[in-house]
Amino acid sequence: MRVFPASIPLNGQTVIVVGHGPMAEPKARLFASSPARLLWFTGESSDPVASDIAQYAKIIRRVPTRRDFRGATLIFLAGGEERELDKLARWGRGQGAMVNIVDSPAASDFQTPAIVDRDGIVVSIASGGAAPVLSVDIRAAIEQTLPARVGVIADLARELRGTVKSVLDKFDDRRAFWERALRGKARDLALAGDKAGARREMLRELNGETGPRTGIVHLVGAGPGDPDLLTLKAARLLREADVIVHDRLVSDGVMDLARRDALRIDVGKTKGHHPVPQDAIGDILVREARKGQRVVRIKGGDPFVFGRGGEELDVVRAAGIAVEVTPGITAAVACAASAGIPLTHRDHAQSVTFASGVVKKDGPDPDYRALSAANSTTVFYMGVGAAPEIQAKMIAAGRDPATPVALIENGTLDTERRVSGTLGDLAGLVTREAIAGPTIIIVGDVAGTAISQAATTTGREQFA
Ligand SMILES: C[S@@+](CC[C@H](N)C(=O)[O-])C[C@H]1O[C@@H](n2cnc3c(N)ncnc32)[C@H](O)[C@@H]1O
Repeated sequence: MRVFPASIPLNGQTVIVVGHGPMAEPKARLFASSPARLLWFTGESSDPVASDIAQYAKIIRRVPTRRDFRGATLIFLAGGEERELDKLARWGRGQGAMVNIVDSPAASDFQTPAIVDRDGIVVSIASGGAAPVLSVDIRAAIEQTLPARVGVIADLARELRGTVKSVLDKFDDRRAFWERALRGKARDLALAGDKAGARREMLRELNGETGPRTGIVHLVGAGPGDPDLLTLKAARLLREADVIVHDRLVSDGVMDLARRDALRIDVGKTKGHHPVPQDAIGDILVREARKGQRVVRIKGGDPFVFGRGGEELDVVRAAGIAVEVTPGITAAVACAASAGIPLTHRDHAQSVTFASGVVKKDGPDPDYRALSAANSTTVFYMGVGAAPEIQAKMIAAGRDPATPVALIENGTLDTERRVSGTLGDLAGLVTREAIAGPTIIIVGDVAGTAISQAATTTGREQFA
């Protein structure tokens, strides 16, 4: 270990930044959420100071004197002539402060690490000044894996530490308590933003009022297939899940993010072939959660857009089990973006409707008059099998047969294919192009904005 990343308590301390511009500003910004008193000597510069920093720093528009450094804990010297920097560093050290000369690790008492700051939790990445860019990249990777509200858990732990110590006097008992409290339901509640609920749960745990660990079900959107389009939260939930109940539409790239030892239950459906009926899916979710498992029910796109997420939510709730929903990028939005088709456009479409090509047996038919309004975009999910019907019913309802259509099959995956034409030829397109994979059908003038000539493309090429 070439450097030791010690932590310096900042409560009641004074931090000083000297300098202005892009060398000084990031240092001043580091202390945005810190209890330290921040003094920023900007020198004679008349550059405006970023308004966010002005809210917590005392801005002093002159160079500091030796006396200004009295009582300082940390001093950052950001730019200036070498002799002047040497003098300021000497003054600072003379007052007992540690000095960092920005961009001069060898002349500094400490180096500034890349920092991940989640309230109570601070992660520092140090390269000993050798490769700051690498540290910044590592920080970005850590930012993505740490839940945004991890600081809430740390806050709670800090608040309850004394109480826990007074109730449990044995070290082993305290450690066992913290393992249960910080990995169980209290943690889930805190990460969901319910700090009061998390505190209650921790106290219940402390008072021995909790029974066996109860599980939780997360209904999670996996997005359209490209793992890069997964939300950070979905990726975290996948990593933490004990049980993953997944669909056919969840891509291998997404499933690769799950824990290797998680139990995976495939409940994938294809049209007319439902190996695991919907009722049984609900039963699986409830059964696994009752065992105390962290269950992730992951679905293609968004769970609440043609995903039957509402039904599963009801079943899990009715069983008295905690359930949380994490949205995903729905196929219409992802496919439109991939194909460069805006779903609304000031000149072409003032509204957009997501419709299903498949309706429940004996259920109401879609309102084709509403779906066929001019100056609107209609996006059909599960529309391939119903293409002849969509074509006929939209035209009968008044939509011009010359209205552009775009079909995006396997959107965002390497096998993505795009086909374009007109509403009057929609069924023909599906047959001639042998469209068979999951496909989004976009009907409306916007479909013609990206497709100047009718074209079929495969892979990630652009239309026309
Ligand atoms: C049962 S729905 C699920 C929709 C999903 N919940 C969503 O929000 O995207 C299945 C339909 O979504 C569409 N779909 C899902 N993923 C797709 C993709 N990668 N490319 C094109 N269409 C897709 C297809 O129309 C498919 O038939």
